[in-house]
Amino acid sequence: MGKDVIVACDFASKEAVFEFLDKFKGTGRKPFVKIGMELYYSEGPQIVREIKARGHKIFLDLKLHDIPNTVMKSMRVLSNLDIDMTNVHAAGTRAMMEAAIKGLTREDGTRPLLIAVTQLTSTSGESLKNELLITEDMEKTVMHYAENAKAAGLDGVVCSPLEAERVHSVCGEGFLTITPGVRFADGEKGDQVRVMTPEQARLIGSDYIVVGRPITEAADPAAAYERCVREFVG
Ligand code: C5P
Repeated sequence: MGKDVIVACDFASKEAVFEFLDKFKGTGRKPFVKIGMELYYSEGPQIVREIKARGHKIFLDLKLHDIPNTVMKSMRVLSNLDIDMTNVHAAGTRAMMEAAIKGLTREDGTRPLLIAVTQLTSTSGESLKNELLITEDMEKTVMHYAENAKAAGLDGVVCSPLEAERVHSVCGEGFLTITPGVRFADGEKGDQVRVMTPEQARLIGSDYIVVGRPITEAADPAAAYERCVREFVG
């Protein structure tokens, strides 16, 4: 699996996402698309089928977290959608992650990539300690969750580009790092705090970058995507 740019299609409706994807017509490019909860909950599984039918790879970012049996059955449903990548919360435990893999594996033995969310980047060190009562620090917690995900047989983790190198050193180079928080050197940061450029993400060894607004809100999204691919994939 090669390095790729995943475009976060954080739109609220089918019309908005298709208007965006239409901008790639004639470019010869079919970006890998991330569909999140907002779009999936508003449009349902049909949106996945329709984007797939247009030839895009799909990362279905639903971050499942429930008892193992429920996650297994839900993943079985998602495996029928022909997605390429999906995810769960590592906090659901190894048993839940193993159940997710079981549910996701199709009868022919193939399955989409399964990625774990470790700690959300919106969780501060303070809330980790005071609300969740996790006494280890954030970095240790994230690395331990990544190791749990690897032990459960998952393919990688979503992490900050700043954590990607360490995840690779702890879990091995083959363990995938999917990194959001990417911005062009001359672009707006928006609400992202710890950011990296696509080129820096390539240099530190990210396997996939997830890029939303720098592409979706660009004056010329196809050109912004092209720039991202050029900087990240080379
Ligand atoms: O627009 P932007 O490039 O900030 O979008 C980043 C995408 O990655 C969004 O869909 C966001 O929800 C997601 N994400 C993130 N940080 C995480 C996990 C996911 O920005 N830690």
